[in-house]
Amino acid sequence: MTLREQQPYRQNPLLRLSYSLIAPLYDAIIDRPMRDARRHSLRTLPTDASRRILISGVGTGLDLPLLPALHRYTALDFNLAMLAHARPRGKDLDVGFVLGDSMALPFAGSHFDHVVLHLILAVVPEPQRCLSEAVRVLKPGGTIILFDKFLQPRQRAPLRRLFNVITRRFATRMDVVFEEVLTAAPELQVLSDEPMLANGWFRRIELQKTR
Ligand SMILES: C[S@@+](CC[C@H](N)C(=O)[O-])C[C@H]1O[C@@H](n2cnc3c(N)ncnc32)[C@H](O)[C@@H]1O
Repeated sequence: MTLREQQPYRQNPLLRLSYSLIAPLYDAIIDRPMRDARRHSLRTLPTDASRRILISGVGTGLDLPLLPALHRYTALDFNLAMLAHARPRGKDLDVGFVLGDSMALPFAGSHFDHVVLHLILAVVPEPQRCLSEAVRVLKPGGTIILFDKFLQPRQRAPLRRLFNVITRRFATRMDVVFEEVLTAAPELQVLSDEPMLANGWFRRIELQKTR
């Protein structure tokens, strides 16, 4: 197996470097405009019994203060600077921080009850691989909570596709079509799909692993 296959983020190593530069500015740009959407997105996590929950691409940990305290969390990111910002936000949670790649998760199959994918699927170079990995580590019956920006199938969006040529290198893709990503995971059923911000460019999608 080549190094790129073991660590698929190496397809675009610039992205990891650039998130080190973005880390100190991230909260100022993202926190306020997204906070209500985050809270809304996380509302379906259970509150009855403790579960194992993976937050893949945790970033600076803006989700952490919004999570119910009874679960056992694993928060993964490939960037140490982002994880350093996230750590203090997890002080009231049972959370382990892991340096790793969302496209090659360092966990056994069927390990988690829920996976949170907030603003990560449209960031990685291979969203299908990121989703497939989330499905692999999820138990049958478990759910994925997804919040991200997606183009609609056959949507032209010429400006976004133009910007994507640059933004995909150092921040995020703008050309990801969720329906195309989903074809990589036939064991997923869509439980809900809601437009959220920016006229539905951002969507909150909940998926269940059926088998
Ligand atoms: C746009 S931020 C989203 C952070 C957080 N989920 C949120 O909702 O604010 C994307 C995060 O994904 C991380 N990331 C990008 N590619 C990754 C990869 N291949 N594996 C793990 N983390 C990755 C970046 O370091 C960054 O922290």
